[in-house]
Amino acid sequence: MSLHGLLSVTIGVPNVAETAAYYADFGLAPEEDNWFATADAGRQLRVEYAPTRRLVEMRVAADDPGDLARIAASLGRLGLPARQGETALETAEPVTGMRVLVEVAPRLAQDPGPASVYNGPGRPERQDARAPGITRPDRVRPRKLGHAVVGSADHEATQTFFTDGLGFKVSDRIKGAGAFLRCSTDHHNVLVLGAPVNFLHHTSWQVDDVDDVGRGAYAMLEDHPERHVWGLGRHYAGSNFFWYLKDPAGNFSEYYSDMDCIVDDQLWTPEDFEGARGLFAWGPPPPPSFLHPDDLAAMMTGAHAPR
Ligand SMILES: [Fe+2]
Repeated sequence: MSLHGLLSVTIGVPNVAETAAYYADFGLAPEEDNWFATADAGRQLRVEYAPTRRLVEMRVAADDPGDLARIAASLGRLGLPARQGETALETAEPVTGMRVLVEVAPRLAQDPGPASVYNGPGRPERQDARAPGITRPDRVRPRKLGHAVVGSADHEATQTFFTDGLGFKVSDRIKGAGAFLRCSTDHHNVLVLGAPVNFLHHTSWQVDDVDDVGRGAYAMLEDHPERHVWGLGRHYAGSNFFWYLKDPAGNFSEYYSDMDCIVDDQLWTPEDFEGARGLFAWGPPPPPSFLHPDDLAAMMTGAHAPR
């Protein structure tokens, strides 16, 4: 009856082995052919070769073949071609050229696990025990792929592809610069950002709670302080805690937790953000390279070299 999530993303990078090792370190489980699996949703990332870093493919989940027919018709009205099979539809985002597959797939049912318990004033909910966030022995493993952020040279056309073409909904907008779009109950699964050049800004991966956002980043930075980009903070759009790191090709990857969940579209009012609110609610000041990655100029001239 509708879209219900992201299945996977494929990123193209010039330095496949190095980048693949980074995502294994990030907590994704390596499988054959440079696929990587999350704890809850299986294969959700593929790394392949490309001369410059880019988002090559996005797979979106739909409930049934009726969704594919509806999407094919919508894309047709936009003048965009699509190849529709029985259980999948293939098209391409018209500005960035990214391949998009919409596939009929079962809905993801995540095992909720125990709630994270935090003490508060007059609310000593965890008694006679240290906080689980400091005693967890295991390394953080992302539960699922949450969203991808696409820099587009024509953000309005890219947004129209996702909303009018595929049926994504608008959760919030960054005035004149982009939109947070959802194809599930997550506040956003895709963020389209206006940019001077088409590029992948970041992918984002769900972890259990804010402790695991911190633990995940801490482990990544222990021997590689150069991976740090921005965190710990909390976004306004989506409310999620975040910490951004950088892979060896220059793509950012985010650990997040506690994102807004939109179940009843009627009860959510999209906002238009201006200034800092589009970026975050609190945290350290964002580094200039967050909005304008260091390799942006090189990508514009096509002279990109891995950093
Ligand atoms: Fe994000």
